Amino acid sequence: MREAIQDSLTAGPLTISYGRRRILDGVTVGPLPPGSITALLGANGSGKSTLLRALAGLKAADGAISLGDIPLGALAPPERARYCAYMPQTLPPPIRMQTLETVLVAMRTDNRSRKSNHIAQALKILSDLGIASLAHHYLDELSGGQRQLAGLAQALARSPRVLLLDEPLSALDLRHQLEVMDLLRDETASRGMITIIVLHDLGVALRRSDQAILLAEGHVVSAGPVNQVVTPEHLRRAFGVEARIEISSDGRPMLLVDGVA
Ligand SMILES: Nc1ncnc2c1ncn2[C@@H]1O[C@H](COP(=O)(O)OP(=O)(O)O)[C@@H](O)[C@H]1O
Ligand SMILES: [Mg+2]
Repeated sequence: MREAIQDSLTAGPLTISYGRRRILDGVTVGPLPPGSITALLGANGSGKSTLLRALAGLKAADGAISLGDIPLGALAPPERARYCAYMPQTLPPPIRMQTLETVLVAMRTDNRSRKSNHIAQALKILSDLGIASLAHHYLDELSGGQRQLAGLAQALARSPRVLLLDEPLSALDLRHQLEVMDLLRDETASRGMITIIVLHDLGVALRRSDQAILLAEGHVVSAGPVNQVVTPEHLRRAFGVEARIEISSDGRPMLLVDGVA
């Protein structure tokens, strides 16, 4: 437990601006322990992508970002990329490169094992994501959802300690959404990753994540265990909706949105 706390991700208070416009103000994150999934929630424009990009080191932020005693915020980008993998909100571009090849390229950054091992590992990741059959298809021949899965495979292939995913389910059908969330839960637990996922589906967040951070207009409305964050009062403040949490017949929480507040 002590080790888990020592290896946690902690950030802030962070201040992030675009030009003169302050986007995030005094936002703190964590400590988020290894093996946990955190949902990053909030209305459009609340600052989720900006915060994720700052944690990934792609957007300058005022304030400390650390992984245990490693000062992530002070590391140069290539060094930082050894610890953090980031998948942007935009789908991977439809380039003329085979899916398997793109996963191998992603792996090489910090994996020095033999090439045959690389290929076996890459195929295992594709198979876990249900896209092994696409290994030799070119990205520019895939559907948007299939490319999103390929992007996830690339992020997982980097073997990060911190996995940052911006709306990774946005192009996926219902079944793939569930499969991906279950896979992320398993991989997060077995690899001891710290996974942060921007999600729009609050029901998925409620059922599939451990913690949540709820943003509104660049501030944290609530952070902590997901069932203490996704509450009617917080949803009214962050999204302006009236919602209820009910216990469904399987004994788990379920979100019902009644309308605009
Ligand atoms: N590259 C940019 N330049 C200027 N403003 C930006 C840029 N990216 C985002 N913003 C602004 O920052 C705010 C937060 O955006 P973003 O982090 O993308 O929100 P979210 O991901 O929660 O929808 C928005 O008001 C948006 O207009
Ligand atoms: Mg966004």
